[in-house]
Amino acid sequence: MKADFLCLSEWTAPQLDAIFTLTGNLKQQQKAGIPHPLLAGKTLGMIFEKSSTRTRVSFEVGMYQLGGHALFLSSGNTQIGRGEPIKDTARVLSRYVDGIMIRTYSQSAAAELASYADVPVINALTDSYHPCQIMADLFTVLEHKGSYADQVYCWIGDGNNMANSWINAAAVFGFELRVATPAGYEPDPWVIERARQRGAKLLLTNDPLEAARGADVLNTDVWASMGQEEEQAQREKDFVGFQLNNAVLAVADKQCLVLHCLPAHRGEEISDEVIEGPHSVVFDEAENRLHVQKAILVTLMGDKEQACC
Ligand code: CP
Ligand code: NVA
Repeated sequence: MKADFLCLSEWTAPQLDAIFTLTGNLKQQQKAGIPHPLLAGKTLGMIFEKSSTRTRVSFEVGMYQLGGHALFLSSGNTQIGRGEPIKDTARVLSRYVDGIMIRTYSQSAAAELASYADVPVINALTDSYHPCQIMADLFTVLEHKGSYADQVYCWIGDGNNMANSWINAAAVFGFELRVATPAGYEPDPWVIERARQRGAKLLLTNDPLEAARGADVLNTDVWASMGQEEEQAQREKDFVGFQLNNAVLAVADKQCLVLHCLPAHRGEEISDEVIEGPHSVVFDEAENRLHVQKAILVTLMGDKEQACC
């Protein structure tokens, strides 16, 4: 049976750990110039209904490095943008490609695509989740700290798709997560409830310093996500006091890491001195999108025996 990568909560910690192990191997091979054509002859269809720099480039380059090919399918230039049903797109693409990556608005659209597709489907961001990003973030923590499951994580800002995915990760891996949002911008209550039922160690607060105190990893994201551009001005008012800046770093662990999925708005959710400062690992994090997604692609679309070696 095919597997999809739609939401972290559908995967177990050992399965995701195996993806991190494969990521490390693939990254080493790529750095050493050792060819690793684990998806030779395979094609990934990449559906984009929202903008992207990192996701598009890392998936496309990743498929090339794995000996395969990627097709960029923007909603503006395909029949998807003219209303062709997702279920038809899923069945047609399944006749041509070996896997589908989708960046879209609703999680249910990604799930519908997966349910009608005969090939694996990867969620490359919806309004609800951004699981590939969290995998890259955790791999970055692993590289810098030597482990990730025993770290204390802090999210400051909007309770958005990234925050929801961090909550899913906290439930799967069992690490402590503190989430500080302005009132009214909390993460999805259903996601919180599901995580709590799985025993997640979650603190939800409206106080960024409470969330950051002693934390090992500080993380934030834009105040207005894609599709919320009209709310930007209101959000700038509502998010005052929720900037990841030196005052927040001062109460965190002295060796803390700063993550941001990018793109960043300096002077809004993060100060220039913090994103450019010594705790920031945001460009390692961006690079790791490539390595971790190659491991996800091989896990879903590749030959399992080969992937282990
Ligand atoms: N972090 C991330 O997904 O970046 P893009 O929107 O550029 O793909
Ligand atoms: N929360 C942001 C993440 C961008 C990578 C958005 O959805 O726009």
